[in-house]
Amino acid sequence: MVSPAALLALAAALAVLLVPAAAAACSASDHDALLSIRAALSEDRLGVFSSWAGADCCAGWYGVGCDPTDGRVADLSLRGEAEDAVMAPAGRPASGIMSGYISDAVCRLGRLSSLVLADWKQISGPIPSCVATELPYLRILELPGNRLTGGIPPSVGSLSRLTVLNLADNLLSGAIPGSITSLSSLKHLDLANNQLTGRVPSDFGKLTMLSRALLGRNRLSGPIPSSVSSLPRLADLDLSENSLTGAIPDGLGSGGHVLTSLYLGANRLSGRIPASLLRNSGLGILNLSRNALDGAIPDVFTRQSYFMLLDLSRNRLSGGVPRSLASATYVGHLNLSHNRLCGAIPAGPPFDHLDADSFGGNSCLCGGPLGKCT
Ligand SMILES: *[C@@H]1O[C@H](CO)[C@@H](O)[C@H](O)[C@H]1NC(C)=O
Ligand SMILES: *[C@@H]1O[C@H](CO)[C@@H](O)[C@H](O)[C@H]1NC(C)=O
Repeated sequence: MVSPAALLALAAALAVLLVPAAAAACSASDHDALLSIRAALSEDRLGVFSSWAGADCCAGWYGVGCDPTDGRVADLSLRGEAEDAVMAPAGRPASGIMSGYISDAVCRLGRLSSLVLADWKQISGPIPSCVATELPYLRILELPGNRLTGGIPPSVGSLSRLTVLNLADNLLSGAIPGSITSLSSLKHLDLANNQLTGRVPSDFGKLTMLSRALLGRNRLSGPIPSSVSSLPRLADLDLSENSLTGAIPDGLGSGGHVLTSLYLGANRLSGRIPASLLRNSGLGILNLSRNALDGAIPDVFTRQSYFMLLDLSRNRLSGGVPRSLASATYVGHLNLSHNRLCGAIPAGPPFDHLDADSFGGNSCLCGGPLGKCT
């Protein structure tokens, strides 16, 4: 039983907590750093910097967020494709263009927890390497959709709090730094559509929190590390349009894992399709097209199979169309064309809506949309 006196004391304590404390004004050094960052960038169309006036950068500076207790800048977030009202004055989705470069001054914002300069199309130059060494509180680093060049900072792995690293759609080159696998909090990694070379780090499986890994449309080579199969939370993996070789790791998408989409198209992968992949009832998107995969398609589909997309086209697959595929609950887009398949296409609902395009260019398939087997 809680005494009335204790309840009163609790109420008083809560009241103190609920009285809004005056938020601290912007730290003078962060204010100066922001002005240096602004001086290196230019943006005319939306006027995002027009609010960056006055001494208190924590009061009404667009895209700047502060820790109210000490007036240190915690968030700097400017998006060139935004839905919010400030950015879209006429009620239209706004699209901005910003040029210039990311000043080293960003590293003087030592309490920064998120840094977002996304989809400005023309921001060029390198990612300041000090970002990796001088911003230890960084949780979110998003710089996609610009024209950034140079490499990913080699010490990126020291950003131990990082949960989101999105550098997609730039012109970044060089290798994925090996240190990246030290990012033990990382959930989202998006490096797609750059010019990255070298291998996917072999200990990629150390990223145990990772749920999305998008590395497609680069120039990566070497094998898909087998450690990828052990990532317990991996839901989306895109390694398409690289130059990866070797086999698809056995066990990818197996067990109690949560893989829902896998894009490995347009590489140089060889060997068999692991049965674990096709048996996985959670996998809804599988694109293995344009590789050198061979052998038979494992006949392991079930009533739980539900594929929005199953594209195995342009490989060297042989044998027949698996009979078990006819028992799948749903196959939205199936493409088995340009392989070495032979025999009768099984009858069943998943095949009813498909046309000849899904099966063309094989050795001796027949039935279904291809017409009667003779
Ligand atoms: C499968 O991936 C390849 C390579 O990225 C792509 O060209 C193709 O359009 C994809 N298939 C589908 C149906 O999206
Ligand atoms: C299947 O893939 C081939 C080549 O990869 C493509 O030409 C064809 O249009 C695709 N068919 C369907 C139904 O998407």
